[in-house]
Amino acid sequence: MRSSRLARLVDQTLEASVVGSFTTIGPILRRRLEHWEPFPSAAGKHIIITGATSGLGLKAAEILVGLGANVHLVGRNETKLNSVIDNLQDSARKSGGSATGHVCDLSLLRSTTKLVAELQQAVPEVHVLIHNAGALLSNYTETTEGVEQTLAVHVLSPEVLTRGLVDQLAAANGQVITMTSGGMYSERFDLQTLEMTKANYKGTVAYARAKRAQTLLTMAWNEDLSSDGVSAHLVHPGWADTPGVDASLPLFSTVMGPLLRSPEEGVDTLVWLATSDGSARVPGQLWLDRNPRPLHKLRRTRLTTVEESAAKDALVAWCNQRIARATRPHD
Ligand SMILES: NC(=O)c1ccc[n+]([C@@H]2O[C@H](COP(=O)([O-])OP(=O)(O)OC[C@H]3O[C@@H](n4cnc5c(N)ncnc54)[C@H](OP(=O)(O)O)[C@@H]3O)[C@@H](O)[C@H]2O)c1
Repeated sequence: MRSSRLARLVDQTLEASVVGSFTTIGPILRRRLEHWEPFPSAAGKHIIITGATSGLGLKAAEILVGLGANVHLVGRNETKLNSVIDNLQDSARKSGGSATGHVCDLSLLRSTTKLVAELQQAVPEVHVLIHNAGALLSNYTETTEGVEQTLAVHVLSPEVLTRGLVDQLAAANGQVITMTSGGMYSERFDLQTLEMTKANYKGTVAYARAKRAQTLLTMAWNEDLSSDGVSAHLVHPGWADTPGVDASLPLFSTVMGPLLRSPEEGVDTLVWLATSDGSARVPGQLWLDRNPRPLHKLRRTRLTTVEESAAKDALVAWCNQRIARATRPHD
């Protein structure tokens, strides 16, 4: 009892400090004080993870294969993906799990639509769909389908994948887990400013807005798919040392270096969620270090319940319109 009161106090102090919570200090203290259990077996589970060729996605795939899961790794670079799959075969043999690869550039919605068809055939029951792929792009990039790339990867492709795999998720009472970022705490959702233009583009802002939009998509998926037994959740990895952080935030990476989480610490909560029973949790929550966390830290980013509901509907309508435009047959 004393120890659990202490654990709560430490957890709340870390959370309030932000740096204590997001860095390696968070999991080091919380793991010890909260007596985190080892992961259970994931034998028999089919888990799809995007962005599985680097950083957090790669580490999560390695751990999940080691726990006996059948992991379906999505990567955009075929050579890199094949090498990752080869490296996982030993672990899969030992655990009884498997690792298979699916090539897809998630910035192109035609490519994501093809991936959906491929996965519908290959994975009849999806226990967990993990939207992990992401990047903070310092320069404005418009895809050949006419969509700003940050939104294509973080918002539109997850929408295409989730809705396209509803039957497979429903067959397993599946969970959809989206990797968010603390960056979204700085942004209030506004559909009018979601899609930045070349003239006003700022990578950190585009990234934070896309991550904020993911929270509304998660809400929409829970509303629309809960009757199929599907639940959607968000997870924040904290600040972890990955090739993505090195490339997109080199100064941050250098300054924070020793305090950054290891990739294992970054994916702990993701793996913990993916290997536990999603239906036992309140859907739509944001998790960090095995505890639910607030979706907002600043009053200015909050919407009223009515505004939030309207914003969610408007975002889904915008996604549908963008996806239809990007994937319409060529003339
Ligand atoms: N690390 C952190 O501290 C941190 C903090 C908050 C949130 N996150 C989130 O965690 C997730 C993983 O980030 P990370 O730090 O592990 O970065 P990372 O090392 O750069 O890994 C990102 C992965 O996403 C893939 N990806 C990017 N664009 C893609 C596209 N168009 N199509 C298919 N795959 C694509 C990358 O593929 P390639 O291997 O081909 O490059 C890579 O496998 C991201 O959503 C990120 O926003 C990370």
